[in-house]
Amino acid sequence: TGLACGIDVGGTKIAGGVVDHEGRVLEKLTVQSPAADVGAIEDAITDVVQRLRASHDIQTVGVGAAGYVDRTRSTVLFAPNLAWRDVDLKAELEPRLDLPVVVENDANAAAWGEFTFGAGAHVDDFLLLTVGTGVGGGLVFDGVLHRGAFGVAAEIGHLRVVPDGQLCGCGAHGCLEQYASGSALVRNARGEAAAGAPPARLLLARAGGEIGKIDGPMVTAAAREGDKFAVDLLAELGRWLGEGIASLAAVLDPAMVAVGGGVSDAGDLLIVPAREAFLRTLPARGNRPELEIARATLGNEAGLIGAADLSRQD
Ligand code: BGC
Ligand code: NA
Ligand code: ZN
Repeated sequence: TGLACGIDVGGTKIAGGVVDHEGRVLEKLTVQSPAADVGAIEDAITDVVQRLRASHDIQTVGVGAAGYVDRTRSTVLFAPNLAWRDVDLKAELEPRLDLPVVVENDANAAAWGEFTFGAGAHVDDFLLLTVGTGVGGGLVFDGVLHRGAFGVAAEIGHLRVVPDGQLCGCGAHGCLEQYASGSALVRNARGEAAAGAPPARLLLARAGGEIGKIDGPMVTAAAREGDKFAVDLLAELGRWLGEGIASLAAVLDPAMVAVGGGVSDAGDLLIVPAREAFLRTLPARGNRPELEIARATLGNEAGLIGAADLSRQD
């Protein structure tokens, strides 16, 4: 009894899981995310919950959504990489499921999951960065998930890191997400391959010679096997993250920053360059304590575990 269902809605996939009080995932389902169609996303969420419910006594539902979620944990105000614009997801889902639903930003949910059951369990002040389709942030201050005045705190992917840089899905230019996300990784890899850069040859061969087939996991796999082009692409992402973390440390002062999301599968290939860039750019380095940067530990389940746990507390 007392099980919660956690749903993580990302730019690429929707994952749902039945989660118990200890953060254990008893059963899990993953479907493709119909990113362009709001109604289809709601149908997919409903379907995943109903299927999981067939064999578990689910009491509450937590949805982690890849976008700006309002203070009442109900409405997705905006999603840079999905079709949501001012959608009251709670109001849509509750009557369909006949269960209480809590909506939370996906990275906030993942941060809560990692803080409660994962990488951040030993600290009180914790920041999670998620590196996937977008770059997400979730902040736990003194043991409490920090949501901000409007619910949209810790939108770290939209820190401006390059004046007049790349156009972002949020409408601004030069956001961190445009340089440090999985999408940026793929764009850079494809771009250099398209420009005929010789070092891209091995990666391109992996993609069967089709530039459009190069994806993030391919870059990570190539880097693991020592392909220098792929190693450098991940290191560049790591540098952007590390420099971002140095600036964030100046404002937020967390004890630990964990890096999660799909690209964090690259492990030290991403984390080590991030740590180096962090130390190189940390303001007042040498005269202030240095936070710990580590890989998140709950993998791609952090969001659904956190969302499930938050739905229980509401
Ligand atoms: C969105 C965030 C989300 C992040 C990760 C960003 O583009 O603005 O709300 O947490 O992507 O999915
Ligand atoms: Na967030
Ligand atoms: Zn942006």
